[in-house]
Amino acid sequence: MSRSRPDERGRRPATILGRAGRNPHDHRGVVNPPVYHASTVLFRDTEDLRSRGPRRLDDVVYGRFGTPTTFAFEEAMAAAEGGARSVAVGSGKTAVAIALTSFLAAGDHLLMVDSAYGPTRSIGFGWLARFGVETTFYDPCIGAGIADLIRDNTRVVFLESPGSLTFEVQDVPAIAAAAQARGCTVILDNTWASPLFFRPFEHGVDVSVQAATKYVSGHSDVMLGVVTTTEETHAVVRKAAQALGATAGPDDLYLGLRGLRTLDVRLHRHMESGLALARWLAARPEVERVLHPGLEQDPGHALWKRDFLGASGLFGLILRPAPHAAYDAFLNALQLFGMGYSWGGFESLIIPSMLKGAREVTPWPAPERTFRIHAGLEDVVDLQDDLEAGFACLRGETA
Ligand SMILES: Cc1ncc(COP(=O)(O)O)c(C=O)c1O
Repeated sequence: MSRSRPDERGRRPATILGRAGRNPHDHRGVVNPPVYHASTVLFRDTEDLRSRGPRRLDDVVYGRFGTPTTFAFEEAMAAAEGGARSVAVGSGKTAVAIALTSFLAAGDHLLMVDSAYGPTRSIGFGWLARFGVETTFYDPCIGAGIADLIRDNTRVVFLESPGSLTFEVQDVPAIAAAAQARGCTVILDNTWASPLFFRPFEHGVDVSVQAATKYVSGHSDVMLGVVTTTEETHAVVRKAAQALGATAGPDDLYLGLRGLRTLDVRLHRHMESGLALARWLAARPEVERVLHPGLEQDPGHALWKRDFLGASGLFGLILRPAPHAAYDAFLNALQLFGMGYSWGGFESLIIPSMLKGAREVTPWPAPERTFRIHAGLEDVVDLQDDLEAGFACLRGETA
């Protein structure tokens, strides 16, 4: 059951995820497509050599430009996101960098949401600045007010919703409409929701970026990124990826494709456990605030309810003031929540959010007390018990 719109064949996302990018009868009935490991690709004769080339965008000519494994994953991702075409690259960060550099050149201006993933922000103020692109960060809650920040040379408006670590929900349709009215390309990092819980192209986005490292792969063993576009914006992204030699490894592509098949069931479980933990945490005396747009009291709840089809398992938490050592005791006591970067795998995680100095126009009020939780696929009662034991250590009640 889903309130997602069906595609032109009447199929809904969970069905599309199971079907897209595979054709068993091309491979003697084998359900999954084969994994092509390739650098060199041989040509039959000089005519074949001349007729195939990377300028044709998805011909198989050399491993770096993609193989049938690459194209199978790309086809499945484009169908999943509801876009026209996808380009697979080696990480989510590469996907962000390719998406941005596809549409920006020296002298251009970029508007980037202040709550974007830290390494994404650094592409703006660090890397792109070296090539003559100026970046202005904007308040994630700006909505249609983005129009006031658009200059004659603004070419791209970059969004990430909800915000990394702080989870503000953006008014994507309002921002997209204002940006497109001024001829800007609208790029969204859609990793939190995955293609299932936010349909970027139904909300005016031109280019959607996924760190497929997270939910798409889902098992903490893959680095993979995807840029999905409309038909009109595909060629420029494909060319940028080719120009920079951005490519993805065959085994990671295969695991990404395999992850897609189960994304719907996994994500619903992540959502259910994430919401249960968020509600439980919101009632705890040790907790000042839970940052989860699925909670009725969250400032982003109305927008989330309007535009999203669900919530993933990633959310934030502000603890009440306590000595630093008490926070360490809490984290160190946890048995089921691992401490590590990334998220979107089957396991639960917690990490201090390290927000000090991480925002330019929207400084965060409690950087040293903010934590990020990823609700994994374990039994939520066990997860709750683990946090309960952690809180006892935070209060100094247990060694
Ligand atoms: C929202 C978001 N976008 C992009 C990335 C980058 O993905 P990757 O780690 O695959 O480079 C991350 C990584 O944590 C992320 O959280």
